[in-house]
Amino acid sequence: MITLGIETSCDETSVAIIKNGELTANLISSQDFHKKYGGVVPELSSRAHLQIINPLLKEALRISGVTLNDVNLIGATAGPGLIGALLVGLTFAKGLAMSLNKEFVAVNHIEGHIFSGFLMPDKPEFPFICLVVSGGHSLLIYVKSYTELIKLGTTIDDAAGEAFDKVSKLLGLGYPGGPHIQNTALSGDENRIKFPISDLGNTFNFSFSGLKTSVLRYIQNQGGVEKLDEQHISDIAASFQKALIKALIIKLELALKEFKVNSISVVGGVAANNYLKQEATNLAESYKKKIVIPSLEFCGDNAAMIAYRAETLYKNGVKHKLNFKPFPSLSDNSFLTFEQ
Ligand code: KG4
Ligand code: ZN
Repeated sequence: MITLGIETSCDETSVAIIKNGELTANLISSQDFHKKYGGVVPELSSRAHLQIINPLLKEALRISGVTLNDVNLIGATAGPGLIGALLVGLTFAKGLAMSLNKEFVAVNHIEGHIFSGFLMPDKPEFPFICLVVSGGHSLLIYVKSYTELIKLGTTIDDAAGEAFDKVSKLLGLGYPGGPHIQNTALSGDENRIKFPISDLGNTFNFSFSGLKTSVLRYIQNQGGVEKLDEQHISDIAASFQKALIKALIIKLELALKEFKVNSISVVGGVAANNYLKQEATNLAESYKKKIVIPSLEFCGDNAAMIAYRAETLYKNGVKHKLNFKPFPSLSDNSFLTFEQ
């Protein structure tokens, strides 16, 4: 079986091929030009996807040693994401499926992330708790099987990655914020400032806007970011990172106490964060659980996870018609397998 995966939900264009269970291509083209705007410009993103998607497809086929005719299944991200960006990949995939008469599966981007741990040699074991932390979403999911996902909690305001991006901006560091905060924090004292660690009681929900505001107030009280020396900025970055990651770990631990699971998986762009990786690994060790955190290539947006998810859905009897519409938001009730 040969599956082609296509991902264009935000600022990465990605094409992947899984050939008889083996990932033979996962090409990712990142739109670095958004950096100068301090965030993703949707219209520019759509145009860039449009330019690069066909060359990426050709290259993915070439390095996989297959032709389009060999492909059995095409999976593409249908949402959540930027509507114009989603439309490029989804329409491209539907066009291929129609002209070549191939099977088609529309993939939920978050479900792609949830199963991205399965791209690693040592895979999660069902049931597992999955912490999804990306630029647009923060979710805690109880994953019973490929088709039974139970949403335990979500952020009530900012996503974890969004908080990294916003605080990075406040500190005059670059975009995307996560890697900048992580690097700046390396030379900082994480105990210098006691930022609030959010804990919404006995729920699995997160909140990060209070933390972001308290970083803003702190900087304002110092007379603005221009008044801060390099060490002070590093200390703020480290103290912020600690508070945010601790809040994630509190909920992960709550889920471990409540649900009997075999593994933990931490996925999404923020799963690239070394502090989070260390804290989650320590937690897993103390609860004697297996932990799977995808390698960098599979933490950020990539089509390998989309191809993999399309294949698992297809093998479970799911396929879609070619009039499947993109959905920009997760709340559009477009999850295929979620129960609440
Ligand atoms: O999953 P992703 O690539 O795109 C979305 O679906 O949103 O996640 C992007 C997010 C950005 O907010 C970025 O700042 C964050 O992941 N990120 C990190 C790190 N690397 C990327 N956050 C914390 N630490 C990192 N090392
Ligand atoms: Zn993502």
